[in-house]
Amino acid sequence: MKEIIISPSILSADFAILGKEVNTVSEAGAKWVHIDVMDGHFVPNITIGIPVVKSLRKATDLILDTHLMIENPEKYINAFVKAGSDIITFHYEACKNISHAAEVISLIKNSGAKAGISIKPATKPEEIFPVLDKVDLVLIMTVEPGFGGQEFMHDCAMKIPQIKSHAPENLIIQVDGGINSITSRICTSLGANSLVAGSYIFSHNDYKKAVASLMPGYTANE
Ligand code: DX5
Ligand code: ZN
Repeated sequence: MKEIIISPSILSADFAILGKEVNTVSEAGAKWVHIDVMDGHFVPNITIGIPVVKSLRKATDLILDTHLMIENPEKYINAFVKAGSDIITFHYEACKNISHAAEVISLIKNSGAKAGISIKPATKPEEIFPVLDKVDLVLIMTVEPGFGGQEFMHDCAMKIPQIKSHAPENLIIQVDGGINSITSRICTSLGANSLVAGSYIFSHNDYKKAVASLMPGYTANE
């Protein structure tokens, strides 16, 4: 089996010591860090933005996996990439139609970052089939975007094989929302190869154990 990429979501980290938190998940074995950007319009919450990405870029070599839960994503792509984002994932629902989504993907790729497209729980996977060969990553939301600590929506996980069967071999299929040591197994067995986890990792007293426990082959006494 190919490597599973764990992307700890800093939404559940202690922002007063963010650099330290990110270094701790890096030491725990994570290679990516997930940055949830919310604008209070696309989702009913406001979080962080470009200045935080810029500071994190100085603090870590981890892949900065940036999840834009914002309207008009095209306006901010260059600024996020300039600040240090390696991956920019935007929401299909923030676009007027699939051609608009294709334009956003081109903008991301032309800026030098990897491009991801995300779908909310109510969006059918077939809506994004036309752009699967253009993106590096598909992010399947397994909760309503907006907040950490929500319960995993099992129905959404069934989108994983649907996307996988229409996707190029090297597409990264990421899931986000309610991921823990049990739901991670459901997602990886259905074909996901990247897991975002916020509250599960950052509420654990041992981040290393938490990261390791999301891997398919983990057994509790390791
Ligand atoms: C929710 C965010 C998630 C969130 C996940 O809108 O996109 O990345 O941090 O949090 P948990 O893992 O706690 O469900
Ligand atoms: Zn996210």
